[in-house]
Amino acid sequence: MLNVLDLKKMKQNEEKITMVTAYDYPSAKQAEQAEVDMILVGDSLGMVVLGYESTVEVKVEDMVHHGKAVKRGAPNTFTVVDMPFMSYHISVEDALRNAAKIFQETNAQSLKIEGASEEILLFIRRLTDAGIPVVAHLGLTPQSVNVLGGFKVQGKDKAAAQKLLADAKKVQEHGAVALVLECVPKELAEMVTESVNIPTIGIGAGLNCDGQVLVYHDIMKYGVDRLPKFVKSYADFNVQGTQALKAYVSDVKQERFPTDEHSFFSK
Ligand code: KIV
Ligand code: NA
Repeated sequence: MLNVLDLKKMKQNEEKITMVTAYDYPSAKQAEQAEVDMILVGDSLGMVVLGYESTVEVKVEDMVHHGKAVKRGAPNTFTVVDMPFMSYHISVEDALRNAAKIFQETNAQSLKIEGASEEILLFIRRLTDAGIPVVAHLGLTPQSVNVLGGFKVQGKDKAAAQKLLADAKKVQEHGAVALVLECVPKELAEMVTESVNIPTIGIGAGLNCDGQVLVYHDIMKYGVDRLPKFVKSYADFNVQGTQALKAYVSDVKQERFPTDEHSFFSK
C-alpha cells in the first residue's frame, strides 16, 4: 500500500496520482484490481448511493458504515474517508471524537475535510499531531453549497484566486498530506500545484494537478442522470444494467429462465 511519502514522491517524480471514489465492497474491490493509487470514500455517497439531495444530509454513521465496506474490498489501497457535514465544526473535542471514530472503525489511511478557516487549520494540525493524515479540500466545497449559492466554479477572479492560493499554502503548513482542488480554473490549479509540495488532486481543475479524482458512479454512468462538464464516463451502466434487468424479467415472464441448466434434479 502507498503511504504519504510515496504520494509526495509521485509528485516530485511527476507521476500522476489516480483516485476514484468507492462506497461499498464491490466498487472498492474493482478499484484495487484496477490499481488506482487512492480511494476516496466521499460524502458524495449521500447523493450517488443513498439518494440524498446533497452531502449536507450525510452522517458520521454513514461514513463509518460505507468506509468499513470499502476497506474490506480494498485492504491494500490508500483510502481517504470524508468527514461529513458539521462533524468537525461544533468544537475541537467533538471533531476529534468524530475523526477518531471514523479513522479507527474504518481502518482508513487518511481523513478529508473541507475548507481553510482558522478553525479548520487548527483541526488539521490537531489531527496530524494525533497521527491522522489529513487531505484538505479547497475550491468548490460541496458541504458549503448553501453558502456558496450553488455548485459553481471557484477562484475565477484575481482576489478569489489569491485567497485560494494562500489557503493552499496554509493547509500545507498545518500538516495536510494532499489537497483536493474542486472546480477551479485550470490556470489557478496549476499555480497552486507549483506552489505547494503536497500533491494536488483535481476534479474539474484541469490537467496540471498532480492527480485526478472522479466519482465512481460518474465514470460508470451508474444511477446518475446529468453529468457535470468535468466528468468523463468510461462505461454506461445505466443502459447496460437496465438492459440486463429487462432481459431477466422477460426471460422469467416467457419461461425461458430457469432452464434445466439452472435447475437441480432429484436422484
Ligand atoms: O465526496 C466526494 O466524492 C468528493 C470528491 C468529489 C472530491 O469529495
Ligand atoms: Na466530498
